[in-house]
Amino acid sequence: MQMAMSMQVRPFVPNLGQHINLNFPKKQSNSTFTPSSHRDSQSHTETLIHHFNPKTPIEEAVTPPTSWYTDSSFFHLELHRIFYTGWQVVGPTEHVKDPRDFLTGRLGDVEFLVCRDDSGQLRAFHNVCRHHASILASGSGRKSCFVCPYHGWTYGLNGSLLKATRISGMQNFNVNDFGLLPIKVATWGPFVLLNLEKEKEVDTHNVAKAWLGSCSETLSTSGIDSSLSYVCRHEYTIECNWKVFCDNYLDGGYHVPYAHKSLASGLKLDSYSTEMFERVSVQSCESSSENSKENYDRLGRKAIYAFIYPNFMINRYGPWMDTNLVLPLGPNKCQVIFDYYLEHSLKDDKDFIEKSLQDSQKVQIEDIVLCEGVQKGLQSPAYCVGRYAPTVEQAMHHFHCLLYENLTE
Ligand code: FES
Ligand SMILES: [Fe+2]
Repeated sequence: MQMAMSMQVRPFVPNLGQHINLNFPKKQSNSTFTPSSHRDSQSHTETLIHHFNPKTPIEEAVTPPTSWYTDSSFFHLELHRIFYTGWQVVGPTEHVKDPRDFLTGRLGDVEFLVCRDDSGQLRAFHNVCRHHASILASGSGRKSCFVCPYHGWTYGLNGSLLKATRISGMQNFNVNDFGLLPIKVATWGPFVLLNLEKEKEVDTHNVAKAWLGSCSETLSTSGIDSSLSYVCRHEYTIECNWKVFCDNYLDGGYHVPYAHKSLASGLKLDSYSTEMFERVSVQSCESSSENSKENYDRLGRKAIYAFIYPNFMINRYGPWMDTNLVLPLGPNKCQVIFDYYLEHSLKDDKDFIEKSLQDSQKVQIEDIVLCEGVQKGLQSPAYCVGRYAPTVEQAMHHFHCLLYENLTE
């Protein structure tokens, strides 16, 4: 097993007077005054982080406490420190392939818009009208400009304000100051990524290293690339904390024989292995040699399940790849977006596609039932912390250590 972990654990230094930096111009405050109630709650939230100790070896470690999964102040801290920093996947490049294509979405409180301008350059903006904050575009599709549905202010694909309606008489107004606020955007393979950090210099040409570290080549050579055809998207809203879904993914196949009986029959579960990199873990499993031809066609010889911190999963098996993007919606709610890709030669085989998607959906429903059950258990007074099965749950422990590191940064 290759281990390329670099885990920096920093001592906790309370910083009670510090405002959380939202990284957005209009939300930043120059004031150094922090009300004491705010200080107390911030300090309470900081304390919760340290209820998990990443230095304890997995054999002795307890899991993060329930507050990490249920507390709303902890949830808001996560948005700022985990999701509003670093590169975050937001969708497939397929949705912004050609000039004038656009996609929209929401990450935490951030409404974003990604489009390809007329010259073919990919751009991203906050999807918020500069007049009275209406959401500008919705869904995805193709547009030559963005017209606000509220009062008709119109923006170009480069974000500039092209037309502000009925502004005669308005003074001290310069259209150049009222373009859409840009967001840093990049791509890796078939994925679009955003970086919401405003202050930091970010190299948009070196995403592979910043996002995937030493694992980027392993992923590229495992068939995770742009050669696959995009098939479709399935979305699920799940009544659980976003980390419950990630934890479920990261248990090294522990739950598979109990919760996914039909999938388990197609896999050789004793071949399950886990490899960890800086911010990525890769689990793999071979297919059972007694597989039916139908199962073998779908699952192939070996499946790999890559988890990219904090919330993105890439599953590559047989001719298929599906990705799972886990979006935090609240302490007790998340949305998981599945995008399916298939080898080009099979893209017109409707029966095969339909059967495969049905099999996949069955597994998703089984996982949703588990995750929603866990969230209820986490909310009950009966549970506070749990333990790790050291031979299988290494990737989950790795995830929790990364969360700690990220939250204490
Ligand atoms: S809010 Fe967009 S034009 Fe008024
Ligand atoms: Fe599962």
